[in-house]
Amino acid sequence: MMKILVLPGDGIGPEVTEQAVRVLRWFIAHRGLEASVEERSFGLINWQRYGTMMPEETWARIEEADAILFGATGTLDQGMVPPEERRKGSLLRIRKALDLFANLRPVRMSNALLEASPYKPRVVQGVDLVILRELTGGMYFGTPRGVEGAAPDRVGINTHRYSEAEIARAARFAFQLARSRRNHVTSVDKANVMEAGALWREVVSAIHAAEFPDVVLEHMLVDNAAMQLARMPRRFDVILTDNLFGDVLSDAAGAILGSLGMLPSASLNADGSRALYEPVHGSAPDIAGRGIANPLGAILSVALLLRWSAKRAEDAALLEAAVEAALRAGARTADIAAPGEEAIGTRAMGDAVLAQLTGRPNRS
Ligand code: IPM
Ligand code: MG
Repeated sequence: MMKILVLPGDGIGPEVTEQAVRVLRWFIAHRGLEASVEERSFGLINWQRYGTMMPEETWARIEEADAILFGATGTLDQGMVPPEERRKGSLLRIRKALDLFANLRPVRMSNALLEASPYKPRVVQGVDLVILRELTGGMYFGTPRGVEGAAPDRVGINTHRYSEAEIARAARFAFQLARSRRNHVTSVDKANVMEAGALWREVVSAIHAAEFPDVVLEHMLVDNAAMQLARMPRRFDVILTDNLFGDVLSDAAGAILGSLGMLPSASLNADGSRALYEPVHGSAPDIAGRGIANPLGAILSVALLLRWSAKRAEDAALLEAAVEAALRAGARTADIAAPGEEAIGTRAMGDAVLAQLTGRPNRS
C-alpha cells in the first residue's frame, strides 16, 4: 500500500489541494488504487499553531511517505519567522533531504485554452514540452552563501556549483524521458560565461555520446532559450536545465498556457521511491481563501503521481483526458477565462473534472 502524505501549505494551497485530494480519492474508490492518504499542515500555520515551522512528527511523515502531494508555500508574513525556523519548514529542505533532483514540469497546450493564451494560436497550438529542472543543486544550494559585512558595505553571496555526478544524473533522466516522447533534448546552460555551464555542456554531451546516441541533443544558451520559448515553443520536447534556469524558464513556459494555474510538477529521486507532486503556481496570497483559484495544476499533479509513483499510466491518461474534457465542456476558472467567458470557482472546477471521471467505467 502506497503512503501518500498531503501537505496543503499556505495561501491557496489548501483550496486547490482539497480538489486534488477529492480526485485522488476517486481513484482509490473506483480504480483500485491502493494508497493511504494522510494530511499534515505545513508552513506558516505550523508556526502559529506549534511555534515551529516543522513539528518533528510531520518531518517523520515526510521522510517515510512514498509520495507527497504538496499545495503551495510562502506568504509575506513568513518574514516574521526567524530564518533557521523558516529553513526547517522550507520546501527546499524537503527536496534536498529526499534527494528529489529530477523536477518535471510538463507544459501541454490544450486546444480548449487557445483563447486564454497571451500568444497567437498559431504559435502555441500543439505545444507539448517538458522541462527537466535539476532541483537539488546549483545556485539555490551552493555554498558559500549569505550576507557578509556591515551596511552600507554588505555583500550578498550565492554560489552556483555543480558536480559532474549531479549533472550526469539529471542528463540521464532527461534522455530517458525523451525516449518515451519525441526523442529530442535541448540542454540549456550559460556555457559562454559560466565555468559551471561549460562543465554542464561537456558532461551532457559525453553522456549523450556514450549512452544515448539515438536521442537528438541540442545545446542552447539560456537567454536564447527564453526567447525561443516565446517565439517557437513547439520546437521543444525535453528541456534539460539547472535549478535556477529551470525555475525561471518554467514560469516563462507557463505563460504559454496563459496561467501558471494549469501547470503540474513532479519531483523525483533516483529510483522513484520518493516523490513530491505540486502545482507550479505559488501561494497567491492575494486570492487566498476566496475559492477562485484554479485547482487544475494540483489535479494534474495527481495525474503525475499516478504515472510516476503509482506506475498507473492508464489512470494518469484517464485523469488528463478528464481535465481536457472539462475544459472542452467550458469549465474555466478566472485565470483561464477569455474575456467575456463566465468563470467558475475552485470547487466547481473540481466538480467538473469529477463529473468527467464518473462518466467512465470502473475497474473491476
Ligand atoms: C518553484 C518555486 C520555488 C522555487 C520557491 C517557492 C522556493 O518558485 O517551485 O518554482 O524557487 O523552486
Ligand atoms: Mg518557481
